[in-house]
Amino acid sequence: HKDLLDVTQLSGEDVRHLLDLAASFQEINRRPVKKVPTLKGKTVVLFFVENSTRTKTSFDVAGKRLSADTYSLAKSGSSLNKGESLKDTALTLQAMGPDVIVIRHSSSGAAAFMADLLPCGIVNGGDGWHAHPTQALLDCFSLRQAWGDSFAGRSLLILGDIAHSRVARSNVHLLHLLGVKVRLCAPRTLLPAGVENWPVEVFSDLGRAVRDVDAVMCLRLQLERQQAGLLPDLAEYSRRFCLGAAHLELARPEAKVLHPGPMNRGLEISNEIADAPASLVLDQVAAGVATRMAVLYLLATRNDGGNA
Ligand code: CP
Repeated sequence: HKDLLDVTQLSGEDVRHLLDLAASFQEINRRPVKKVPTLKGKTVVLFFVENSTRTKTSFDVAGKRLSADTYSLAKSGSSLNKGESLKDTALTLQAMGPDVIVIRHSSSGAAAFMADLLPCGIVNGGDGWHAHPTQALLDCFSLRQAWGDSFAGRSLLILGDIAHSRVARSNVHLLHLLGVKVRLCAPRTLLPAGVENWPVEVFSDLGRAVRDVDAVMCLRLQLERQQAGLLPDLAEYSRRFCLGAAHLELARPEAKVLHPGPMNRGLEISNEIADAPASLVLDQVAAGVATRMAVLYLLATRNDGGNA
């Protein structure tokens, strides 16, 4: 592949290959990888038109661990704020000769637009409500560390603001591809249109939804994306949909908890669960570096006899 735009372009074999590669970048001979010369001479641009802590930093760390040169362009401080178009900004970045551009944008389809326009590799670092492929891949990497290769037949509950979540869309597809039974739990106003066509079981009651699952993925209530008049009452939302210790006791004894971050503690996930041994939240961050090393490697070396 020239680009990574969505997990829908990946086969199960692609995913296994990528996760194996990520594991090999995390540790060599049981020692953490701090720096290898693999991408020396390659250039990665981090083009973040929407805010990010984890995705942007971990792509930067990933590129640097592989010895690529990494450069950042954010909306703030760029000529986007003087009205320059996405197309002209993209062509300007391309003229500087990057091998890969990672783009985050509030518009669904922005990464595909860049991929059609430019010859370099494009990674979708999250576009609107549409897709966040490296998040879903790193979530599967974290789950594989907990479950080994036994994904088929496991069950995972995605809890919270699913309507506005690119993380949910990418994870539903990828987890279903790997044989996981996916449940969703959200208030009706935070379920996406057409959810009846998704390969999931939908619940409105958290106590029922969480029963006997192997993992719960809590999602941030995306306050900045709520439609006027549809923002839930926050106290009521927290009372019905905030994952607490009593809920987790209804899940399988070894059940894990994920959250892509940033967390609204006390709104969709309680403090005690966010910091509990069952929480994989910081493992997900570490997995993000390894997974993004694999993605950058595959795209940046695709013309050098690499495995992409
Ligand atoms: N999970 C995630 O995408 O986090 P950031 O918005 O901080 O990158």
